[in-house]
Amino acid sequence: MCGIVGAITRTNCVPFLIDGLKRLEYRGYDSAGLAIANMEDHQIQRARSVGRVSELELHAAYLDARLGIAHTRWATHGIPSERNAHPHMSEGKGFAVTVVHNGIIENHDEVRRRLMVDGYVFHSDTDTEVIAHLVHQKMVAGADLLAATQAAAAELHGAFAIALISSNAPNTLVAGRKGAPLLVGVGDAELFIASDASALISQTKKIIYLEEGDILCATDKNLRIFDARGNLAQRPVVTSQLSADAVDLGPYQHYMQKEIFEQSGAIAATLEMVSNAQSINPELFGADASPILNQVSQILILACGTSFHAASVARYWLESIAGVPTVVEIASEYRYRESVCLPNTLVITISQSGETADTLAALHHALAMGVEHTLSICNVPESALIRASRLKFLTRAGPEIGVASTKAFTTQLAALFTLTLVMAKIRGRLSGPQEGMLLAQLRHLPAAVAKVLEIEPEIKKWAPLFANKEHALFLGRGVHYPIALEGALKLKEISYIHAEAYAAGELKHGPLALVDSNMPVIAVAPNDTLIEKLKSNLQEVSARGGELFIFADRDTKLTASPGVHVLKLLDHAGHLSPILHVLPLQLLSYHVALVKGTDVDKPRNLAKSVTVE
Ligand code: AGP
Repeated sequence: MCGIVGAITRTNCVPFLIDGLKRLEYRGYDSAGLAIANMEDHQIQRARSVGRVSELELHAAYLDARLGIAHTRWATHGIPSERNAHPHMSEGKGFAVTVVHNGIIENHDEVRRRLMVDGYVFHSDTDTEVIAHLVHQKMVAGADLLAATQAAAAELHGAFAIALISSNAPNTLVAGRKGAPLLVGVGDAELFIASDASALISQTKKIIYLEEGDILCATDKNLRIFDARGNLAQRPVVTSQLSADAVDLGPYQHYMQKEIFEQSGAIAATLEMVSNAQSINPELFGADASPILNQVSQILILACGTSFHAASVARYWLESIAGVPTVVEIASEYRYRESVCLPNTLVITISQSGETADTLAALHHALAMGVEHTLSICNVPESALIRASRLKFLTRAGPEIGVASTKAFTTQLAALFTLTLVMAKIRGRLSGPQEGMLLAQLRHLPAAVAKVLEIEPEIKKWAPLFANKEHALFLGRGVHYPIALEGALKLKEISYIHAEAYAAGELKHGPLALVDSNMPVIAVAPNDTLIEKLKSNLQEVSARGGELFIFADRDTKLTASPGVHVLKLLDHAGHLSPILHVLPLQLLSYHVALVKGTDVDKPRNLAKSVTVE
């Protein structure tokens, strides 16, 4: 969702700007643009286009300068169009200010009205344009670019990251963040900024993470960072662990495919500390986790989308294995709901990106209600979520580029199962032999994942059977019900087939009315205590002419027949079965999307990290 890059370089910065935007493409966007400032004649030139960055690259081919800013836009205010694409510009009184922006300016209407009274004319439907005019107005009144940006930022409400250049501030790049991510890459007499580290690794591994409210002012000679109160601040330079290989496609056709097949390694990396230990310990969640987790009497988990589904699986584990009362809530609902928060509640937030606006706001809402115990499970170190939480567990999935979340989900589940074991142990519900047995299940998980993924050729054969379907129904029971929900989300987001998931016992309470020969029904059917109940539900589907696609365990007693397709997973994982059962659903949605020819990694209308409400 919106990506920013910017640079002060020794030679032409445009190739970096274009490369950086391409590396941010995965975040989701519908138009792109860049602006450069010529250090010699102080002219600003701009190129913008709707569609892919490769389109912008053609428009920008003739541009050459050492200072520039660039942007991919995911439309919020105003349709995707060239005039709404960033950078936005304010011109007059002999100079220009241009800005790129990620996030939302909530008071843009009011600021726009004031600026219009002062004679400013608006050329776009965006909230962003107010920033350009506001900074311009302050520069007309005598402020330099830095002071004008600081003053403007103080007047703007909302969560945003911005970068600006001006023909009146030769050689200067000003950028800042408040609620949306922005990183600085430190090069050899060069400086880069970007929304995330993947855009910087081609240039440098030396990264500065800006803090909330920071505004930087950089020239080709120096870099100054000011904190939210305007004081000069020192921010550490850290070495990014991200490797170029991690964000390259390698031999795969799509990032989603690559990420599905990376799951075995991603889970192994996430569980490294657990697998090497003889016993499970709370410190896996932070040095001071033990006293905090010992006080916890219930858990509230907040998340969105796929991360919410991981939370929903964890609820079954935490209640049945650890005996901790657990509630799971969609972050965007919780943040605006008047709720009751019991003392000694552990609030867990789960997020791949750690920048999801709703999840972050939900955490802040919980903190404002007096919650003391917070834990984040996240894939991005230094993300806003990780920084805002007391306890943390970093999944080590590596960068997830495909919009459809896959390896982030299974590594979140691995982390949540680890937490379940910690809580069970603290509450005296785990005997030594049980702990050993469950740890053994965790250690076996990477191998089991690799084995189950061998099912791909069989799933490929099923995919064409879905290509002309408009709807699909997913069924599961118990801990596998959230897996059905996740399967439906995967199918709808990348193949655009309308898919819904139900707890199979709910079928006869309504959705059964939808079942006919045009409605494929996909069932998650592990050989667990609910299998006989599920089989009855599946009979109800067959009796109404529904076509069944069943993912069973090796030893589930189910056989294929006309209208009933059965695939059996090649390995078991005990309590961790949901992690295995989501894999064929990921593969099914991927192969259906391939057959349908959709844009697998960048499905329409979606963004990778949803940094606006
Ligand atoms: C999953 O395939 C989605 N792209 C989406 O639901 C995602 O999980 C959600 O937006 C939450 O993102 P987060 O994990 O980065 O917070």
